[in-house]
Amino acid sequence: MAPTLPDKARIVEVGPRDGLQNEAANIPVETRVELISRLSDAGLATIEAGSFVNPRWVPQMAASEEVFAQLERKPGVRYTALTPNLQGLERALAAGADEVAVFAAASEAFSQKNINCSIAESLQRFEPVMAAAAAAGIPVRGYVSCVLGCPYEGEIAAQRVLDVSQALLGMGCYEVSLGDTIGTGTAGSMARLLNTLLREIEVGKLAVHCHDTYGQALANILVALQHGVASIDASVSGLGGCPYAKGASGNVATEDVVYMLQGLGVETGIDLQQLIAAGAFISGQLQRANQSRVACALTTG
Ligand code: HMG
Ligand code: MG
Repeated sequence: MAPTLPDKARIVEVGPRDGLQNEAANIPVETRVELISRLSDAGLATIEAGSFVNPRWVPQMAASEEVFAQLERKPGVRYTALTPNLQGLERALAAGADEVAVFAAASEAFSQKNINCSIAESLQRFEPVMAAAAAAGIPVRGYVSCVLGCPYEGEIAAQRVLDVSQALLGMGCYEVSLGDTIGTGTAGSMARLLNTLLREIEVGKLAVHCHDTYGQALANILVALQHGVASIDASVSGLGGCPYAKGASGNVATEDVVYMLQGLGVETGIDLQQLIAAGAFISGQLQRANQSRVACALTTG
């Protein structure tokens, strides 16, 4: 019997954050704001607009306050941001973020490289973030990086992903996004991971965040959908990567995910043509080849 897919999926657009954080160029605030505006016009209702991390670590996200200040907010759209600690959360609240995300890893080495502390220390650091976000009435999403492999440690046991995910949910994250940060996962390893997690975690609390480095992202997302996961991170025109994971270029392109979901009859509320136009805009601004296969196929000739 064919597995039942969700009727609807939520796409979390991470291009303006996960995408642009990895670009060498210093991107003007106006370009970041226009990208976000075009994405919301295309129907994206959750947009990661920036991050409030140490600007010395990720200079590309330094002006996130200004991005939030200049955003033309559309009703029904959630503008979200990454916050690694209380200082980040305070910046996000002052900027008017609708939602924030804390980010942990399933790999100790990656945790040290990315946020300069162990996994346990990061979870401790998130406690005051959760408390302050709850006091401000702001929902918090949790990320777990390196769920299907780490650039420093190699294979990651599903149990470690489960432990960190449960810790994040236990402290009040409404959802955990499972990051295949370096894109080494396959349909097989994604299925094995989800089978382990779903023994303990409700499916409605899981999202997937796939990078397409090895060309496996759509297959991995399909497997996640078949397991009932209906929250999917994607980045317009396949922008992105993580500065602390060498070779992590290429988040799955939102255009490719939306095209696949249309073919599967899973509703997203997104207009593919407008999305392709948003991807063409940012690719042009960055003078970068569009990494979305669907966008390339539908715009050549
Ligand atoms: P640290 O150096 O250990 O922090 O960095 P600290 O608390 O010791 O503070 C050192 C200095 O940083 C101080 O300034 C603080 O004020 C400042 P000084 O006194 O030296 O002038 N500082 C800050 N400034 C602004 N905003 C802040 C902030 N916090 C401290 N929030 C820290 C620890 C976590 C801050 C640092 O390691 C950091 O910013 N890391 C962020 C790295 C990052 O953004 N990585 C990319 C995002 S994760 C990702 O892409 C993966 C994901 O997409 C999922 C996936 O693909 O798997 C989410
Ligand atoms: Mg990422």
